[in-house]
Order: sequence, then C-alpha cells, then structure tokens
Amino acid sequence: MPSMILLGLLLASSLMAASADELSQDFFLTGVGGQILNNGQLLMLSLDNTTGGSGFESKDTYLFGRFDMDIKLVPGNSAGTVTTFYLSSQGSNHDEIDFEFLGNLSGDPYTIHTNVFSQGIGGREMQFQLWFDPTLDFHTYTFIWNSVQIIFMVDNIPIREFKNRESDGLSYPNKQPMTIYSSLWDGEQWATRGGAVKTNWTDAPFETFFKNFNGNACVVFPNGISSCDSKTSTSSLSWQSQQLNSEGRSYLRWVQKHFMTYNYCKDYKRFPNGFPPECRSSKSH
Ligand SMILES: *[C@@H]1O[C@H](CO)[C@@H](O)[C@H](O)[C@H]1NC(C)=O
Ligand SMILES: *[C@@H]1O[C@H](CO)[C@@H](O)[C@H](O)[C@H]1NC(C)=O
Ligand SMILES: *[C@@H]1O[C@H](CO)[C@@H](O)[C@H](O)[C@H]1NC(C)=O
Repeated sequence: MPSMILLGLLLASSLMAASADELSQDFFLTGVGGQILNNGQLLMLSLDNTTGGSGFESKDTYLFGRFDMDIKLVPGNSAGTVTTFYLSSQGSNHDEIDFEFLGNLSGDPYTIHTNVFSQGIGGREMQFQLWFDPTLDFHTYTFIWNSVQIIFMVDNIPIREFKNRESDGLSYPNKQPMTIYSSLWDGEQWATRGGAVKTNWTDAPFETFFKNFNGNACVVFPNGISSCDSKTSTSSLSWQSQQLNSEGRSYLRWVQKHFMTYNYCKDYKRFPNGFPPECRSSKSH
C-alpha cells in the first residue's frame, strides 16, 4: 500500500471539496434548531436551554465505508456541550463507532472521546486531546470501516485503530448496516468530569458547523441488497482494503504517545480482574 496516508495528507481536502455532495442529499435534520445553509454546503447544529439540542442522520444505511466530515466545534465556553458524529445500527445488540467532542471552558482543551460497540458491547473508550484548537476552523474527522479494521482519523492522521479479531474469537462490527448520526446536546451531567462544571447558558445558542461530507461506502437498501459506491477521488478508492502503512503507524504512535488522555486498556482500577480480551494484543492498539 504505497503511502496512502501521505497522499491523503497532501490531496484530501481539495479532492473532497470537489466531490462533496450537498448535505441535504445525504442527511435529514432531527431535533430542534439545526439548519442547512449555503445551498446545502453547510450544516449547523444548535443548542440552547429551551430546545434540547439538534442533530442529523443519514438517509442511507451502510455496511463498510470511508466517511469524512469537516467539523468546526462550539467555540468559547463550550463546557457541558457534546457534539457527536457516529455510526450506529439498530436494536439491543447494536454496533456503533463513535466520535464525541466534549466541550470545555474557554482556553481549556476539548476531549475527543471514541468508542466501539460490537453486538451490544461497548465500554472501549479511548480519549484524546488535539494538536490544534478545533473551534477556530474546520478539521476533517474520518472513519474508515472495512472488513479488516476501523481507523479513526483527524485531518488524515490516524488516532485509533480497532482490528477485526474474529480469528481470535472476538466480535467485530461487520454484519449490521449502520446509519450516520450527529448531534449537539447538553452533557453537563457527565461530560465535565462527572458534572463538575455546568453548562453556562449565557452564551447560548451553541453552534457546531459541518461541511464537505464525503461518503465512499457500501449502501444497504431496505431489501438487503448492497451497492458499493466508489466516487472519483483518488484518496477514496482504496478504503475497502485500506490499512495503516508504516508511516500511518508512526503517526498513530505519535498521537497515542502525546495526545491520548484515556485508554480503557490501561485502566487498571476499572478492570482489576483483567482487561477485555481485545486489549491483550499490542497489535490492536
Ligand atoms: C478541560 O480542561 C481541563 C484542563 O486541561 C482538563 O483537565 C479536562 O479534562 C478538560 N475537560 C474536558 C471535558 O475535556
Ligand atoms: C457565564 O458566562 C457569563 C458571560 O460569559 C459570565 O459573565 C458568567 O460569570 C458565567 N457564569 C458562570 C457561573 O461561570
Ligand atoms: C436559559 O438560560 C438563560 C441564561 O442563563 C436564563 O436567563 C434563562 O432563564 C434560561 N431558561 C431556562 C428555560 O432555563
């Protein structure tokens, strides 16, 4: 796999801008206060203390794909606000792949919370801070989800990898089609170190902006038939087999060394009797 990550770094933003759909083609709004602006090129979610927040979800469901979204998070005192961007299937044994962005007091860093659920079992949290201020400009947040692994990326830099280890008897999300969801909600009860800081509504409405969605994915229709769409951008062609190359792997190590603030696989207090099985391989993390 020649240097896909580097290629992504150099080319992704211009190519994605060129091929991005109108957001209203792919998504509909949920909740109260969201808006699609600029002829469908920009989506805004909004939260105040009267509406209960807003969201959007994809019209299609997908089984594998590469999903890129440019997001600009709530600026200023965003403590208590939670912006989510995630994939989820339905039902009690659901699969889910999460990005959640936990706001903070002015000048304090956001937390990026990630999780993976497979067949109803989650609890695989890893958290990061960023090497930039995510409120000043748009940055690209990406899931690559294929039969081999899930890769979480920020600006084409891999921050987390979750491998398919079915050969070791572990479950992996590869059977249930997922919908893309996003929301902006009030998480003051848990998002600020267990409710230590309350949401300050003086600055409401809080707003998160989204643009340049790029989904290169296998769409699953209601009749169960799936169709895999490969749009023209070069950075998207290889998602079905994409794995981290040595360069991607060194970026992953860099991020996890310098920016990871929580790893469930290192939380001895939480798992005094041993870590979950997927933690027992240095390869998957
Ligand atoms: C907010 O910033 C403080 C100080 O850096 C940090 O300890 C805390 O974890 C951050 N909270 C969130 C929700 O990111
Ligand atoms: C809430 O924000 C306002 C305006 O930014 C500020 O004056 C006030 O002190 C804040 N309240 C709290 C409890 O921090
Ligand atoms: C919403 O927040 C504002 C600003 O803090 C406050 O004045 C108002 O009473 C709040 N409204 C509700 C319904 O809580």
